[in-house]
Amino acid sequence: MNDFNKRMEEESRKIFGERKVVFGDGSINAQIMLIGEAPGSEEEKQGRPFVGKAGKNLDEFLKIVELDREDIYISNVCKIRPFKLSKKTGKPINRAPNRDELDFFVPLLHEEIKIVKPKLIVTLGNFALNYVLMDRSVKIGECHGRLIKKDGMKIFPLYHPASVIYDRSKGPVYIEDLHRLREIL
Ligand code: URA
Repeated sequence: MNDFNKRMEEESRKIFGERKVVFGDGSINAQIMLIGEAPGSEEEKQGRPFVGKAGKNLDEFLKIVELDREDIYISNVCKIRPFKLSKKTGKPINRAPNRDELDFFVPLLHEEIKIVKPKLIVTLGNFALNYVLMDRSVKIGECHGRLIKKDGMKIFPLYHPASVIYDRSKGPVYIEDLHRLREIL
């Protein structure tokens, strides 16, 4: 992974300057790869995906599927924090990854998948699902909790845990999907 990460960092610097690259985390021998959208402020600070609040959600996830963080490789579609300045406070706030960020990081995500060669990819939210499948017409609401096979990959789409916190009505479905995931592992 070192050569891959080094190249990604060097190329990223040419386009995005000093914005910190938050690399994938975990053993490349992991059989399960978890893919989120993009790092937030805490991930940028610590240089690791899914830490802080998102890390707490991940712990809950791992408990239900009966896995340890060491059992999985965790990454994001976009590896730098997408942010804009809040009109109210003037401070950086998260936004969705933009076209330039996606054009740069999505091909790298597919390279990363080929290096890790996971038996199963768990996507969190629409972004990860769309850019792993390379199909933006697929909607998480229609296929969460069901195994998808494409180009030799096995993909299990889940709602993004952050969206579950935002929309509490998705909670029971999300938990049900996690139990289904545990069954197929
Ligand atoms: N933190 C991450 O690393 N990725 C997400 O998608 C959300 C929080």
